[in-house]
Amino acid sequence: MDYDLNLHDFSSFFSLKGKIAVITGGSRGLGLSAASAILQAGASKVYINSRKAGVCDAAVEALNKLPGLAPGAKAISAPADVTNADGLRQLVELVKKDSPEGIDILLANAGATWGAPFDEHPDAAIAKVLDLNVRAVFNTIREFGPALERRGTLEDPSRILVTGSVAGLGIGTVGKQATFGYSASKAAVIHLARNLAVDLGPRHITVNSIAPGFFPTKMSQGLLAMADGGIAGVAKRNPMRRLGKPEDFAGAVVYLCARAGGHVNGATLTIDGGAMWATGQLSSVNESKL
Ligand SMILES: NC(=O)c1ccc[n+]([C@@H]2O[C@H](COP(=O)([O-])OP(=O)(O)OC[C@H]3O[C@@H](n4cnc5c(N)ncnc54)[C@H](OP(=O)(O)O)[C@@H]3O)[C@@H](O)[C@H]2O)c1
Repeated sequence: MDYDLNLHDFSSFFSLKGKIAVITGGSRGLGLSAASAILQAGASKVYINSRKAGVCDAAVEALNKLPGLAPGAKAISAPADVTNADGLRQLVELVKKDSPEGIDILLANAGATWGAPFDEHPDAAIAKVLDLNVRAVFNTIREFGPALERRGTLEDPSRILVTGSVAGLGIGTVGKQATFGYSASKAAVIHLARNLAVDLGPRHITVNSIAPGFFPTKMSQGLLAMADGGIAGVAKRNPMRRLGKPEDFAGAVVYLCARAGGHVNGATLTIDGGAMWATGQLSSVNESKL
């Protein structure tokens, strides 16, 4: 037997004890569910970023009331527009001042979408979506690079997670609510994560992407409402007969950030109940309803 079957200290296998995390787009939806799980897995600090201070403050208040957090653990409000160079600088400075020791986890999750038919798809929409979903993701990772490098080690690398989408792996929505820029942006960040994985691995930082299918959030509600049969219709066509739940996303985040996920680098974890393979197309939008 070549392998030691004893997984040393199994209690720490999925633990994020003492970790410091930054989550962009952490004020609601998938980012907020990840924040909750990271804190409950033992993290000491989670910085909650989105553009609106009031919304970040409210999210932080709710997170800090969670039962069973580690002593002294806290969520911290860190509002900033990550597409804006000054905003991003302020965010990095806030985190640096509060946590000069660096950070362990960056979840580059803030994103936006836009639906419009091909002939009318505006330049402004393509620009806005690529700006937030790709350019800001790269800039955020670059600016937090030194803080991540400070805490990463050979045995316990720091972790960068990029929220992609199954729309970046297959074909997103086409037709009247076509999401050309969104699909292209998600394909781009998924491949960006692979490039960064190879570049940052030697600096003891892993980079992975998560590709969610449909999760009911503010972003997806419009598209889900227009899908054939609405939310229930989309759920019925999914091999698992349901949509994504907050814990599905949160579980993947904890795994990829914990000791258990320490050698996963450059991977894309799809969380869609297998929907991509079931239909060959990501959403069954009923054209007659658009
Ligand atoms: N829900 C789904 O079905 C689904 C599927 C696949 C992938 N995703 C991806 O998952 C990620 C999260 O989406 P979600 O569904 O949770 O959407 P959501 O509920 O709309 O959340 C988006 C978050 O991003 C923040 N944000 C937007 N622009 C920002 C900016 N310029 N700077 C900083 N924060 C900004 C928003 O807060 P403010 O408005 O306050 O800035 C909010 O916290 C996105 O990358 C999305 O593409 C979602």
